[in-house]
Amino acid sequence: MPGARPLLSERPSSEDSRDLAEEDALLTGQHTSRSDGPRSWKFWREIGLFVWAVIATALVIILAVVYQQSQDSHQGSSAPHPTGKRNLIFMVSDGMGPTSLSLTRSFMQFENGAPFSEQLVIDRHMIGQSRTRSTSSLITDSAAGATAFSCALKSYNGAISVLPSHEPCGTVLEAAKKAGYMTGLVVTTRITDATPACFAAHVNMRQEEDRIAEQMVGDYPLGRVVDIMFGGGRCHFLPNGTEGSCRADAKDIVGLAKEKGYNYISDRKAFNELKGGKKLAFPMLGLFAETDIPYELDRRQQDDVYPSLHEMAEAAMTALSEATKDSDKGFFLMIEGSRIDHAGHHNDPAAQVHEVLAYDKAFTSVLKFLENDPTEGVMVSTSDHETGGLATARQLHTSYPEYLWYPGPLSNATHSAEYLDLELQKFLAEDPSAPHKEEFARDSIRYGLGLRDYSDEEWKKLLEDPSTALYQYADMVSRRSQTGWSTHGHSAADVNIYSSDPRAAQALVGNHENTEVGDFLREYLGVDVEAVTKELREKGANLMVKGHDGEEVSWMGKVPEEGQRLDGQNHLATYGGDFRKRELLHGRGCGCGE
Ligand SMILES: *[C@@H]1O[C@H](CO)[C@@H](O)[C@H](O)[C@H]1NC(C)=O
Ligand SMILES: *[C@@H]1O[C@H](CO)[C@@H](O)[C@H](O)[C@H]1NC(C)=O
Ligand SMILES: [Zn+2]
Repeated sequence: MPGARPLLSERPSSEDSRDLAEEDALLTGQHTSRSDGPRSWKFWREIGLFVWAVIATALVIILAVVYQQSQDSHQGSSAPHPTGKRNLIFMVSDGMGPTSLSLTRSFMQFENGAPFSEQLVIDRHMIGQSRTRSTSSLITDSAAGATAFSCALKSYNGAISVLPSHEPCGTVLEAAKKAGYMTGLVVTTRITDATPACFAAHVNMRQEEDRIAEQMVGDYPLGRVVDIMFGGGRCHFLPNGTEGSCRADAKDIVGLAKEKGYNYISDRKAFNELKGGKKLAFPMLGLFAETDIPYELDRRQQDDVYPSLHEMAEAAMTALSEATKDSDKGFFLMIEGSRIDHAGHHNDPAAQVHEVLAYDKAFTSVLKFLENDPTEGVMVSTSDHETGGLATARQLHTSYPEYLWYPGPLSNATHSAEYLDLELQKFLAEDPSAPHKEEFARDSIRYGLGLRDYSDEEWKKLLEDPSTALYQYADMVSRRSQTGWSTHGHSAADVNIYSSDPRAAQALVGNHENTEVGDFLREYLGVDVEAVTKELREKGANLMVKGHDGEEVSWMGKVPEEGQRLDGQNHLATYGGDFRKRELLHGRGCGCGE
């Protein structure tokens, strides 16, 4: 508006008044109406200011670009590559969601009489979260979950490093081996289970653990790629008909492993003779249990029979470090706290907290190793998915609940529900006489779970419906601690990502797809996984093997039947009325576990 009062009217009218008027014009959007002073002075002054503004702007832009690029090359997601020799330790806490941490942390504080500020070691190393869905479901399984890590690609539930097209995808471990790294797998479940299998085997259905065992010792297109394996699952390596075998055929995979050069051990005594890894000869296959290594809650009472997760991890790290001492390449080691997931499937909070504490201990061992080892290295830890839909809260009655959760009943248990169930089944098979039975059932609750306030209904139901005893025992602990579970399966919860070094693992800070964890692994090691994919496809193109029934199948085994929700995208958004389906297994076992 011409003639409007200058906004900054209190300013003194001095020789600065020209500048003030211009300032007002800028603020009000009006032109100044003055035409005093020589035109040439004003003209050149404006040209000068304009040129200065252009140069200054250009300088700012150039500096910003240069700074951004230097940032990227130091810590950007595109190029975190170290250049020298390096070790990568990838830890997987199978089935551990964020609530498993609150559960375990509160339990630890209760046990130690520690203040609420006391954390687990792992708590101090959280850097991000991972989204876990697979191609076939919003809820992944461990096979698709581990394929996202090993191949950095999404696939369907049940896929062991194969794609929805049923073609194999190269894994970071295979590529690491080709590049000259040494490699290892340390787990507490069967070494043939989905997570470890996805690093060194390729099958269309995770259930084919017999075939996975053959591939993992090197009977597949790439030959032997794993330098050290520690875990359970011995039964898949022994020929059928021999003691402790669960194979469907007569193949001797321990014998095959020895042919491929493996040093094979199978018990605690032989493990101790490795002297914490200092006396370990490569390649090494150590299978310490027929199936799973017992839950930590039970294992710690059989310490002379089974090594712990952190002992196995320490031995593997020590031996790998020594073996790569004079190499210009380090090692890639995957360590899995496998049975956090199983405790989730069983809905057993007492078993779970001890599994998480054992994982925290192994995590601490890895931190210590990285601190002391002369080779540069990083550890990344994450979960493939959450299991159980765990909640540190549970409404037990129809009335509005009090806000309470009690860790106490978890520390009363001296055994897992799995252990007590096995003992009960054994007892019932051997001694069906009634009076003993009742005493046995009561004692299993009183001494096994450490619960004094059990009801008659509780112990009677164990005998009336022993096929669901596993879930009954777990529920007794869950109800008393007011721990909630929404499923005996997995959930779609995001899971945490941890690292020993948030700078080296910068690419995983924040919320990511699980395949980005896989991207990080190959990028950190600087290995060519695509070349491995190509080699697998070429060498395996017409490779057929005999199935158990003598029928010829692809070396990756049979393809799952249609209807197992493989086609993926469509059913995700389609609600199928599942809520009406009746309990299929009612009265025929609980379908416990996997
Ligand atoms: C063991 O497997 C072979 C096939 O490899 C089969 O012919 C035989 O019947 C099996 N034996 C037992 C005891 O299951
Ligand atoms: C847990 O054990 C303690 C000590 O034996 C006992 O006093 C308490 O009643 C037990 N808790 C339950 C819920 O039975
Ligand atoms: Zn699971």
